[in-house]
Amino acid sequence: MTGELIKLRRISRRALVRGALAGTATLALGNSSHAACMVTPRQAEGPFYPEHVLESDWDMTKVLGGTGRASGEVIEVIGQVRDDRCRAVGDCILEIWQANAEGRYAHPQDLSNKYPIDKNFQGYARIATDKDGHYRFMSIMPGSYPAGGDWIRPPHIHFKVRSAFSSLTTQMYFAGHEQNDHDYLLNNLESMEEKHALLVDFQQIRADGVRVGKFDLVLTRD
Ligand SMILES: [Fe+2]
Repeated sequence: MTGELIKLRRISRRALVRGALAGTATLALGNSSHAACMVTPRQAEGPFYPEHVLESDWDMTKVLGGTGRASGEVIEVIGQVRDDRCRAVGDCILEIWQANAEGRYAHPQDLSNKYPIDKNFQGYARIATDKDGHYRFMSIMPGSYPAGGDWIRPPHIHFKVRSAFSSLTTQMYFAGHEQNDHDYLLNNLESMEEKHALLVDFQQIRADGVRVGKFDLVLTRD
């Protein structure tokens, strides 16, 4: 065997090892990327998209001219909008709406709920993400509400997000809530992976005691 051939074989073996390692790394990254950037499942807009909006800033816990903070537990929601290749999607518009702490929407069609409207609760926000797709808003832990028959909707927040190339309407739920397992919309999703994409755990706690949840939204580029 010539020296030249031995050298080639060594290079070849090194290249093989490098290739195998690279393959492993790509596979691991691909798997985690897939899980992190699976397109967020769509959910129904529902009947309570706001008809009248007085205020739409990022802090839904108070309104101009109100008598104080909205009743209920204050929460913060943060997140990022990405596309299905894990790239940040900046300058999106997010619309957010939800029931108050007692499960009542400030909507004329919300007639089945016996609880009053909270005049201090904004209930709706329209915010822009930054150039890297990040957003943040303050709200109140929404209550459950009756949705007909024996169906009780668990606490959730409605989202409508628009980017330059795509839009998505969905709902965010609170991980671990006892009513999640009985909700028709949440359990109508095809896989556990899709279900988990809409469940947010609020275990991060700020210095002032406010629980924080991170809800990332993933859009297709269509
Ligand atoms: Fe709802």
